[in-house]
Amino acid sequence: MSAFRLDNKVAVVTGGGSGIGQAIAVCFVERGATIRIVDLDEKAAQNTSERITQAGGSATAHICDVADPVETKAVFGEILEMSRVDILVNSAGISHVGRLENTSDEVFERIFRVNVQGTHNAMQQTIEAMVAQGGGVIINLASIAASAGLEDRYAYSMSKGAVRSMTYSVARDYLRHNVRCNAISPARVHTPFVEGFIKKNFPGKEAEAFAKFSAAQPIGRMAEPCEVAMLALYLCSDEASFITGTDYPLDGGFFNLHG
Ligand SMILES: NC(=O)c1ccc[n+]([C@@H]2O[C@H](COP(=O)([O-])OP(=O)(O)OC[C@H]3O[C@@H](n4cnc5c(N)ncnc54)[C@H](O)[C@@H]3O)[C@@H](O)[C@H]2O)c1
Repeated sequence: MSAFRLDNKVAVVTGGGSGIGQAIAVCFVERGATIRIVDLDEKAAQNTSERITQAGGSATAHICDVADPVETKAVFGEILEMSRVDILVNSAGISHVGRLENTSDEVFERIFRVNVQGTHNAMQQTIEAMVAQGGGVIINLASIAASAGLEDRYAYSMSKGAVRSMTYSVARDYLRHNVRCNAISPARVHTPFVEGFIKKNFPGKEAEAFAKFSAAQPIGRMAEPCEVAMLALYLCSDEASFITGTDYPLDGGFFNLHG
């Protein structure tokens, strides 16, 4: 099948060591792309990269805290010396449970720095090269939290709302440079992010919490990471060349099928 191919394209995937980012990296390689995994977790980044190369694909692992602008500049500089970058997927992100009154300044800032500034840093270090080469595609992982008013997700929701707005701005400002920029807003996806989050916040009640989070989607389950990857693949492929400045829900009916 010639549709939805990424042959000869190089994709950087932040957070590619785990969950959604990992699924996107593996899916893109299967469609012909070369992958640069950018992740804070060295072991996770190398695991994904080795998994890809052992299966005959092409991938490299790059250790980087995307919240740090200096480190991000250095790592993206190395990547751009190795090859062009056609696709940037920003999947690195962290979660937090809390309301306004129990979210400390430190936590608020950390969520902002990883989820918002991390996305900003990665886009900023890539955009010039994309413009110079005549185009590119950016996908940012937002969340239904950007617009749903989820309970106890004050700082996290703030960060994902910002990611969505940044996506629209970049899409607008780089339209004429042939850079497409879209967000994906999943409801709950069954990844280590969710497993860790349940373990930390619902000790001893993990099964109950898992069932509750599954039922939050009218479809009755969480999404699988590969389902997010298939939407990312479509949005990054040439078949989606008319699509920019959007935030795609992938929500198991969360927004429209309640009641
Ligand atoms: N899982 C969900 O239910 C869900 C739903 C909506 C949106 N999202 C978003 O999707 C993205 C991926 O989530 P996931 O579930 O795959 O998470 P995950 O925890 O499984 O993977 C996230 C990866 O990002 C890396 N990372 C974290 N902070 C980093 C930093 N500062 N610099 C570089 N790498 C860093 C981690 O090491 C990890 O490998 C996140 O942005 C998350 O907010 C997740």
